[in-house]
Amino acid sequence: MSFNELHKACEEKLSKEVDEICEQFVVDSDKLAQMTEHFIDQMEKGLQPLPADVSEATDRGLPMIPSFVTGLPNGSERGVLLAADLGGTNFRICSVSLFGDHTFKLEQLKSKIPDELLEDENVSSKDLFSYMARRTLAFIKKHHPDAMEKGASAPVMKMGFTFSYPVNQTSLNSGTLIRWTKGFKIADTVGKDVVQLYQDELDAEGLPFVKVVALTNDTVGTLLSHSYVSESGSSLCSGEISEPVIGCIFGTGTNGCYMEEINNISKLSPDIREKLIAEGKTHMIINTEWGSFDNDMKVLPTTKYDIDVDQKYSTNPGFHLFEKRVSGMYMGEILRNILVDLHCRGLLFNHYKSYNELPHRLRTPFELGSEVLSHIEIDDSNDLRETELSLLQSLRLPTTSLERVEIRKIVRAISRRSAYLSAVPIASIIKKTKSLHKRYHGEVEVGCDGSVIEFYPGFRSMIRHALALSPIGSEGERKVHLKIAKDGSGVGAALCALVA
Ligand code: GLC
Repeated sequence: MSFNELHKACEEKLSKEVDEICEQFVVDSDKLAQMTEHFIDQMEKGLQPLPADVSEATDRGLPMIPSFVTGLPNGSERGVLLAADLGGTNFRICSVSLFGDHTFKLEQLKSKIPDELLEDENVSSKDLFSYMARRTLAFIKKHHPDAMEKGASAPVMKMGFTFSYPVNQTSLNSGTLIRWTKGFKIADTVGKDVVQLYQDELDAEGLPFVKVVALTNDTVGTLLSHSYVSESGSSLCSGEISEPVIGCIFGTGTNGCYMEEINNISKLSPDIREKLIAEGKTHMIINTEWGSFDNDMKVLPTTKYDIDVDQKYSTNPGFHLFEKRVSGMYMGEILRNILVDLHCRGLLFNHYKSYNELPHRLRTPFELGSEVLSHIEIDDSNDLRETELSLLQSLRLPTTSLERVEIRKIVRAISRRSAYLSAVPIASIIKKTKSLHKRYHGEVEVGCDGSVIEFYPGFRSMIRHALALSPIGSEGERKVHLKIAKDGSGVGAALCALVA
């Protein structure tokens, strides 16, 4: 065989293998229907109390965490409140002014969470929460110097705390961490009340007048801020809710929440339910923690790359398996695993003779961020030069033009599966709550936040395609409005603090 023939044969083999990999990422309408049915079942299970004889094998369903938030804002709320927001990448302190006319002003101090807090094995809870308290101190000094001067005698400043990890919430202002997700692994935080941990450190930093009065999740914040900003929020005042509005995040992680009838939340103790109903409350926001949908892998599409990402590289193997197929933190890691595998099979980057010769960054877990995929996804430059540059910059990885064509195919398969899976919880909540058959001819607003839904090219349209293929069908899909709700974690936490 001549050199040219050999070269051609290699190209064809690569293309064929890549097509086979991409095929494993396809989610069709049957799969969407199967997952939607299972998702609804898991929501229903998660609303039930755990049986007394619970064991490892018990199917507990989705976490379905009661938020203790029983109404949605209508845009008329007013006040100046503090908000703290610990996400997967950043920690923010905000001062939020709500003007009562659907508008707000937000001042913030945003800091990238130091790598050692995420990576160092010896980090303790105290290290994390005292870091947060020190950032809070820096913010208060700058934006509320008058309060600093008064010290302990300063008037109370109410703070809402957005903590975007699964907690066992016991009231509006307390909750214990169930487990970390999205990269943190500080063991001694698990089982502790995160509000108390933060408040203790605030007190220690000389900020006793900052009172953490509400604990919330970023999805809950997104739903609240969406209702505050949205003009249609005015008709959704507490007690008059006739359709759910979903709040969801598609960013570093993924999750969603919605309004559930208190009568259906049988995991709440009868005392609490009766008390709320006596107060005239009918609904409560439930944080589904849908990132952990189907940890038993009954219906999730699974490739060997998903298994490796979960088992070999993630900090929480066996958990949050839906998130690991959907969210921004994992899209790049799936691609990295596929590229390394294709190299090891002699199909890609053949000028590197062995795995150890590959650029260090390509061998480093989680080094490949979803923004690189977003450049590749829509690269229509000559010879895919954008892709070439992007891979050189991010991974120091040179590529041939043919390799780039194949890499773009893989990127599109990963993002498409992510978006199609994202449609499943949305379709399921809409179906479970029968919201398409309610108010306003069943128009449903979904408040969304997160880097992937906001910035990943085509992500929202791909979710729409999948919604049309899902059991809600194209007629249902047309009634679903996916709206970007910015700053949910700040404004939403402030709204929570206001009602606390
Ligand atoms: C993870 C967290 C969840 C959060 C989501 C989005 O899934 O467990 O609490 O809402 O990320 O940030």
